[in-house]
Amino acid sequence: MEVTLAKSAGFCFGVKRAVDTVYKEIRKNRPVYTYGPIIHNDEVVKDLEKKGVKVIKSLEEIDDIPKGTIIIRSHGVSKKEYDTILAKGFEIVDATCPFVKKIHNSVLKESKEGKEIVIIGNANHPEVQGIKGWSDSNCTVIETEEEALKYSISNNKKVCIVAQTTFNYKKFKDLVEIISKKGYDILALNTICNATEERQTEARELAKVSDAMIVIGGKQSSNTQKLVEICKSECDDTYYIQTLVDLDLEKLKSFRSVGITAGASTPNNIIKEVQIACQK
Ligand code: F3S
Repeated sequence: MEVTLAKSAGFCFGVKRAVDTVYKEIRKNRPVYTYGPIIHNDEVVKDLEKKGVKVIKSLEEIDDIPKGTIIIRSHGVSKKEYDTILAKGFEIVDATCPFVKKIHNSVLKESKEGKEIVIIGNANHPEVQGIKGWSDSNCTVIETEEEALKYSISNNKKVCIVAQTTFNYKKFKDLVEIISKKGYDILALNTICNATEERQTEARELAKVSDAMIVIGGKQSSNTQKLVEICKSECDDTYYIQTLVDLDLEKLKSFRSVGITAGASTPNNIIKEVQIACQK
């Protein structure tokens, strides 16, 4: 049986970097905390917990814990949170994805120059909340057409528009177009990261040429569900598993070619385990 693993399966660059950072910090002999779970994967979070890494859910908690290192995850945080952590005597190891950091820097610079900021994205997402916290001027989050239509600036200011990194590109373009029609002086920065799109495109291509597809990822993971949907549309024999335990290896033997892909929060060791089992 021919087994092909998608190159883009699993962690994107920013998440891999953040997870690696935590494992590196454990080796130094002082308390290590992550501000929020480093990744939406229970196995990884539990493994880190076993190794002594604690998850902090809010900054109120840090008054009651021993001083140590707080790791900022790939989503990033606001400037205020950053300053509070330092002021309370903790060391920060910043694992904010460089693509997100670039948005923080643009928002800070453009707002300082007097532009209003618009973030195209989901207002409840931690990445968007973090970005918002770098603006020095009025900042509005827009996710829908209605919100874009309603948007107006109070005076003659210019507007700088950025996007949440995982936002859909077509939707971003449509919303920018709606705002552009209002006649404001607009600087639109396309800050969308293409890691998700690349993973989906590769999954589709692989599913087209495979007799069976295995998609590995958490049952709650929406990006994994999307991959399953894409693969199913190209390959009837698509299997959605969380770990190797869920895989029927006997059934797989009847296929000549099997493709493997995985959601953005699936650790490499789980992917490898499945790949090796299929190759046996
Ligand atoms: Fe990942 Fe960074 Fe893109 S966290 S999805 S590489 S913005």
